[in-house]
Amino acid sequence: MSKTVLKVFVVLLVVLGAYMWVGYAITEMTGGEKKASGIVEISPEGGEQIFWGKGRCFTCHSMGGQGSAVRCPNLGQFGEKFPLPIGARAVERAKERSEETGIDYSATDYLVESLAKPDAYIVDTFKNEMAIVYAPPISLNLKEIKAVVAYLQSQGGEVDIDTIEQPSEVAVQYYDRIAAASAAGGGDPGNGEEMFVDTCSDCHQLNGEGGEVGPDLSTIGDKGLKFITESILRPAKKITPGYETYVVVDAEGIKTIGLKSQETGAEVEITKATGEVVTINKSDIKEIEIDEGASVMPDDLTEALTVKDFQDVLAYMMMQKSEGEQQ
Ligand code: HEC
Ligand code: HEC
Repeated sequence: MSKTVLKVFVVLLVVLGAYMWVGYAITEMTGGEKKASGIVEISPEGGEQIFWGKGRCFTCHSMGGQGSAVRCPNLGQFGEKFPLPIGARAVERAKERSEETGIDYSATDYLVESLAKPDAYIVDTFKNEMAIVYAPPISLNLKEIKAVVAYLQSQGGEVDIDTIEQPSEVAVQYYDRIAAASAAGGGDPGNGEEMFVDTCSDCHQLNGEGGEVGPDLSTIGDKGLKFITESILRPAKKITPGYETYVVVDAEGIKTIGLKSQETGAEVEITKATGEVVTINKSDIKEIEIDEGASVMPDDLTEALTVKDFQDVLAYMMMQKSEGEQQ
């Protein structure tokens, strides 16, 4: 082989290699596009896919003659009981909600509410049995829920993507609720609130209600999921400043453990985990020190909660944000 032939051969190899690489890259790109098709568009078609698929709406609801579920409201036009399909029905329901609440509801607001907080309005003759569709096992995200709203609107109503994308004050609160639940890995903040009242509110204030042993949690969502989770599972790991655990031993050797809630020249006031407040004369105190390794907040609270309840409490905590932090 002459040197020229060899050179031509090498050039050909390089060109061929380049073509193969481009072909490979194109396959990768189109393959990538196929993967992305699992993500829905905020459109009636996207929502239809969710309604009859991941959202499992069809297991409870029929849409007119479509589907076989009969135990929950038909969302299409069906018999005397359902003269209007849900898109048109939502307009009527919105009027009812406006009258009940004194807040102006649009049809979009009603549909968003029916998904975000189903117990806000219970359809006559039915029970509060609608699934929390953004909690496990269904776990729709906010985008999927917006798509479903567009699909519901397309059933005899006006599809209004603009009001879905730029929500009113009513809808935006519900979007926050769904986003907070998703950020917490899915959960039902409604049930979370009940669990919070049962297990936490003796010690914590939330929007002006509850005990005052521990810190006010009205804006705890700002601190993020990881912080909140750790605070509950291992309270002593990071003590909220000002909430250190004091151990006071008096002259008779009696130990009082709790938060130092007040101190004057002559007395120290200790609030115990039970909420009981003990006032001790400084002259009676033999020893007073901070126990670095302890929190007044019990570390076994999750034992009183099921895994689901804990998840729901986290979703509820993630909802508690200051104004500026709302998404
Ligand atoms: C476990 C059963 C169940 C599932 C799953 C379910 N729903 Fe419902 N839904 C209900 C029940 C029961 C009601 C009536 C009680 C109420 O108003 O909350 C209802 C009410 C509604 C309403 C209000 C209807 C009206 O006449 O005003 C809408 C809208 C709705 N559901 C949409 C959906 C969508 C969309 C999905 C899926 C993402 C879904 N539901 C999943 C049970 C379910
Ligand atoms: C017996 C009283 C008590 C109970 C019950 C209690 N806590 Fe606490 N909690 C405290 C105290 C005291 C602190 C501050 C000390 C610390 O950081 O551990 C605290 C701290 C926290 C913090 C960190 C706050 C911050 O801003 O740093 C979170 C979050 C929290 N608690 C959530 C909960 C949740 C959720 C529950 C119910 C599942 C609960 N607590 C039940 C007393 C309690």
